[in-house]
Amino acid sequence: MNIREIGVKYKDYMIEMRRHFHQNPEPSLHEFETSKRIKEELDKLNIPYESVAGTGVIATITGGKPGKTVMLRADIDALEVQEENDVEYKSCRDGVMHACGHDGHASSLLGAAHILNEVKDELNGNVKLVFQPAEEIAAGAKKVMEESNLAEVCDACFGIHLWADIPAGKINIEPGPRMASAGIFSIDIKGKSGHGSAPHQTVDAVVVGSAIIMNLQTVVSRMTDPLDTLVVTVGKFDAGTRFNVISGSARLDGTTRCFTKEVLEKSPKEIEKMARLTAEAYGATIEFSHYDATIPVINDPEITEIVANSAEKLYGNESLVSFEKITGGEDFSYFMEGIPGAFGFVGIGNSEKGANFPHHHEKFNMDEDALEVAANLYAQFAVDFLNDN
Ligand code: NI
Repeated sequence: MNIREIGVKYKDYMIEMRRHFHQNPEPSLHEFETSKRIKEELDKLNIPYESVAGTGVIATITGGKPGKTVMLRADIDALEVQEENDVEYKSCRDGVMHACGHDGHASSLLGAAHILNEVKDELNGNVKLVFQPAEEIAAGAKKVMEESNLAEVCDACFGIHLWADIPAGKINIEPGPRMASAGIFSIDIKGKSGHGSAPHQTVDAVVVGSAIIMNLQTVVSRMTDPLDTLVVTVGKFDAGTRFNVISGSARLDGTTRCFTKEVLEKSPKEIEKMARLTAEAYGATIEFSHYDATIPVINDPEITEIVANSAEKLYGNESLVSFEKITGGEDFSYFMEGIPGAFGFVGIGNSEKGANFPHHHEKFNMDEDALEVAANLYAQFAVDFLNDN
């Protein structure tokens, strides 16, 4: 079977679908019409599906012969961004835009559904197509995993992000860390308030908070392996009411980013310890809270190799490009927690077509020729994983 030959038939369909989704964007957890349209498209193919996580859809293509099960994932939500592109398929919804390319993800996976449905009799095993809601608020993947049996039935998972910093049509797939975790923490400081002229009668929460912020940088520079990446940022510092009142309380809100499980586990503990002991030195106490919005995307080496071979089979070795891992988060990591997986980038950048703005920008756009590349890669990987492995 030649996936590229089949894929080319659905190129116009995918562009049409992408423009439909682009024109009708819906924010996280509100992907009602998007979900409905995806189901309508699956109905036309007689592909069975179930709803998951509210607006999510899991479709199943059953192969002609028994075998393993492979999962392909596309996220489907849009962002609260006011579109500034002047195109005929411009967003009809004020203040909401597909500014990250998830419209392209949904349509590429629908393209892959067409391709795989056509070759299903030749598949040794099954394909789960996951249309995931709420990636932008890092809530969807977790919910889909909790509400489904994907972890039990799937032997591999693969996700794609169309990416503006990679030239259209090029593919990046590499083993190891690819996208960072996003941890969110807050530190509530309790001191003792008093008169600005008599600091000795108080425990100044502003001074304590300042000391904590400075000391937290040593969690990065002195407690983390210099070859591992860790970002600790305090983005918000709330304290005080007026110039001559020493504040008895303060609150720090911050975020962490890292690429390994070791740093992910260790860093919140180090941050808490540093904050607690610093506060103690000044006679203050703290309350610490933390959660991981996303965990790092770490590609499984074996799955990665299969994807790389599939890409090569489709477009030759020259289509593969290297691309440095990024500090953005991606909740596909929650699928990878339970299923061996890989996450790849397919380039959509093309300044000649106005596709040269970063993700989440009000003029973000894509070279739609890449949709076919993404669909073919989804399909080829599924075929290769099931039939040659
Ligand atoms: Ni995205």
